[in-house]
Parts: sequence; C-alpha cells; structure tokens
Amino acid sequence: MQTVSTLVDLRLAVDDLRKSGTIALVPTMGALHEGHLTLMREARKHADHVVASIFVNPTQFGPNEDLDAYPRRLAEDAALLEAEGVALLWAPTLEAMYPHGFATSIEVSGVSEGLCGASRPGHFDGVATVVCKLFNQVRPDHALFGEKDWQQLAVIRAMARDLDLVLPLASNIHGVPTVREADGLAMSSRNAYLSPDQRAAAVTLPRAMRAAIDDIAAGDNVAGALMRLRAALAEAGFGPIDYVTLADAQSLVPLAETPQVPARLLVAARIGGTRLIDNMPVTAS
Ligand code: PAJ
Repeated sequence: MQTVSTLVDLRLAVDDLRKSGTIALVPTMGALHEGHLTLMREARKHADHVVASIFVNPTQFGPNEDLDAYPRRLAEDAALLEAEGVALLWAPTLEAMYPHGFATSIEVSGVSEGLCGASRPGHFDGVATVVCKLFNQVRPDHALFGEKDWQQLAVIRAMARDLDLVLPLASNIHGVPTVREADGLAMSSRNAYLSPDQRAAAVTLPRAMRAAIDDIAAGDNVAGALMRLRAALAEAGFGPIDYVTLADAQSLVPLAETPQVPARLLVAARIGGTRLIDNMPVTAS
C-alpha cells in the first residue's frame, strides 16, 4: 500500500491505479475500528482498487468540540488498511486540503438542517465540503459510507445529486449497515473516550432504542415510546440528550405517528461529555 500526502503524489498514484481498474473511495478520519474496516471490505466488492482517506477535518468540528482530542494514530491505521488490501492511503496535510485563502463552503439545505445539523451548526457544511473535495481529488467510481452516520449519508447523497459529482452513478454511493460491539453499542472512534463505567452505561442506548422500536412496531403511541427512551437514557446517566427522533428514512422529516413509510429512529446523546449517535430502521406495524 502506498501512502501519499500531497495532491501531486495523489494524482500520480490514482492515475496509475486507474490503468488497471476501477476505484472505490472510503473517506475516514482515522482511529480505525472494525466499522471502518468493514467499509474497506465492502469497497473491494465494488471496485478493483480501494483508496482510503484519513483526514481529521477541522471544518466539521465546532469551536467547543473535540478536534484537538480526536484520536490520531496514522501508523497503526496504515497497518490495518494494508492488511485489508487497500491500494492507496490518501492522508493529506492540512495545507494540501485547505491552502491559504481557502474560501468555499457547500451547504446542503433540508436534510442537513435538523438532528445533528441543529445541535452542531456548520458541521454538515464542513462534511459536504471535504467530501466534495475528496471526490474531486480521487475521482472514484464508487464511494462508501456507514449508515452509522445516517444523516451524513443523506447529506452526501443530496450533494452528489445536486452538484453532478464525479461518480458515474448516484447509486455508486453505497451505505453500509452499522457495525456494533458484541453488546450492541455502535462502534465509534469516540467510544475510546468512555471510562469503563460510562462504557457499561452506554449499552443502554442501543437497548432502549430497540425497546422503543418494538413498542412502535406493536402499535404503541410514538410520543410515549420516545419519552420512555429518553427516560431510560437519563436513568443510565446520559445527559444532555440532543435528540430522540423518529423520522422519514429518506427526507429525515420527523414523524409524530406510527410510520407508513420507511422510517428511522435517530438518537444523539452525551454521556460524561462524549457525544454518541445511533440510528436504526423502524418498520411500520
Ligand atoms: P469517520 O467518523 O472516521 O467515519 C468514516 C466512515 O466510517 C463514515 O462513512 C462512517 O459512517 C463510517 N462508520 C463509522 N462507524 C461505523 C460503524 N460502527 N459501522 C459502519 N460504518 C461506520 O464520518 C466521517 O469520518 C467524516 O465525517 C468523513 C465522512 C470522513 C468526512 O470528514
């Protein structure tokens, strides 16, 4: 596996790969876990070569968020990617990504506005802008993202559609189901921030979400099910809770009643200062 950190080297390496086949891109911020590695494995099914990127993107972090604390372990990550058969690691420097005078931002209205967009102002502008740059830099045939970040996936799909981004087909943006720990907690680089007690309490998040989904599927009142979910999180030590929302899976418009359309239960909540997010499908009763 080759690692490159400047645009000139990236172009040469990508042109070289393209001579022998198609390319799938998997953007990440590093601190790789099994969820990321699953994306790499899925990517290999779609294309001849996998290009991974690692860039802790400052523009998607708010002023009081964990940009400085975000785990960085490039050497370890590179070894994991190599073992997965990734052909090329694009690990740009800050200057390569945001040269002096950088002044452009992409804002996707609608899907980016509620949920995490409401509690993290500017976050999805930062995500959309960096992912657009990554698509233009690598010009992949396929790109893969985790359903763990359901709203992010919706924002990227909308941006790619609206801006006719370089992927040959909109359907070449692939969502990969969330990879979970044995107890059900969604894998996340931020789980590393949790103390053993917080980690033990964090399992309440997926458990209480499943209970709420079962209640809704059984025909229970949606507001009541969501209230019990909030109460279970508070009881386990979560707080503040950013949102607990049942939404249309595509548009992300909140639903007040038992869904007649494919729906998603989405939650963001903090435990001991660490912000955890999760989402699961909800089928109508
Ligand atoms: P990061 O949080 O590193 O995640 C990289 C990719 O891995 C994203 O598509 C994310 O949804 C996916 N992922 C994370 N945890 C997962 C899990 N448990 N199961 C399945 N997939 C999982 O998301 C970002 O980075 C950034 O916002 C990025 C898109 C790279 C733009 O900076």
